[in-house]
Amino acid sequence: MTQIRSMAQPTARRPGELGVHSLDHFNLLVRDVAEAEKFYGLFGLDTREEGGKLALYTHGHPHRWGTVAEGTRKKMNYVSFAAFEDDMPRFRERLEKLRIDRLDPPKGFESNGIWFRDPDGTLVELRVAEKSSPNQKATFEMKGGDAGRQNAPNRSKAPRVQPRRLAHILLFTQDIPKAIAFYRDVLGLRLSDRSGDLIAFMHGIHGSDHHMIAFVKSDGPGLHHCSWDVGSINDIGVGATHMADNGFAYGWGLGRHVLGSNYFHYIRDPWGSYSEYSCDIDYIPVDQDWQAADQPPEDSFYMWGPNPPEDFAHNFEVIN
Ligand SMILES: [Fe+2]
Repeated sequence: MTQIRSMAQPTARRPGELGVHSLDHFNLLVRDVAEAEKFYGLFGLDTREEGGKLALYTHGHPHRWGTVAEGTRKKMNYVSFAAFEDDMPRFRERLEKLRIDRLDPPKGFESNGIWFRDPDGTLVELRVAEKSSPNQKATFEMKGGDAGRQNAPNRSKAPRVQPRRLAHILLFTQDIPKAIAFYRDVLGLRLSDRSGDLIAFMHGIHGSDHHMIAFVKSDGPGLHHCSWDVGSINDIGVGATHMADNGFAYGWGLGRHVLGSNYFHYIRDPWGSYSEYSCDIDYIPVDQDWQAADQPPEDSFYMWGPNPPEDFAHNFEVIN
């Protein structure tokens, strides 16, 4: 609905330092791809069939933010990060120096990126692509209504919400300090904030939201949620209501996080992970060295909102 596109900004780049600039896309395996098409379509994404996979786009944006393919069970198959082309030789040297094994791309996902595994065994791709992370803080609309008119449309006339872009993903990890060290030392991400060894948020050095990826402690790897940027709190509410009206009422929201400051509503997907409507997340400009803080979870998880569901942090990818 709110389609305020920012003026095209020049690509932000921190000179001299080595780091990825974007979370390029992710690949999720699920048992029923048709179910994924329905869920993400209702969520407001532009879903397309591409090369035997379900591709996730946002309406009016050329970037492909994710793909969903068929698997025997839900699994976060891989995460792909993008770097500037002239940084790739230095990344290759770094991987060699750190003795990180380079792997072939998974079958059916041929690419000329560099593939390896993180400490949890999650497959990671490093590839050359245009910067898809924002070059400035995303626009956010919070404007009062006009006097003398009904400012809210009737419920039946509420427009569909169309997220503007993938904002970030939250992965489960068995070891928060190890995940922070790996993504810092290999991909050049920086710690934004953390709550002890429970959760950690990381940003890119070339201008990035407060987090492009985050990690939460669990018994194994997996996807907790993917987060999609919308333009207003009203968009979050309209989106969540549309999902509830179509059978996806389970979730958490409306609320506001402290670390990242974003307003949120999480909708549980058919596989036990979540898609988040998010807006007004903090932004770390290219020329700022963010001072990371370690904040107690009870004071930093959310500023306000309902209590999260009991199983909010359950990792359905771990088979016991
Ligand atoms: Fe999130």
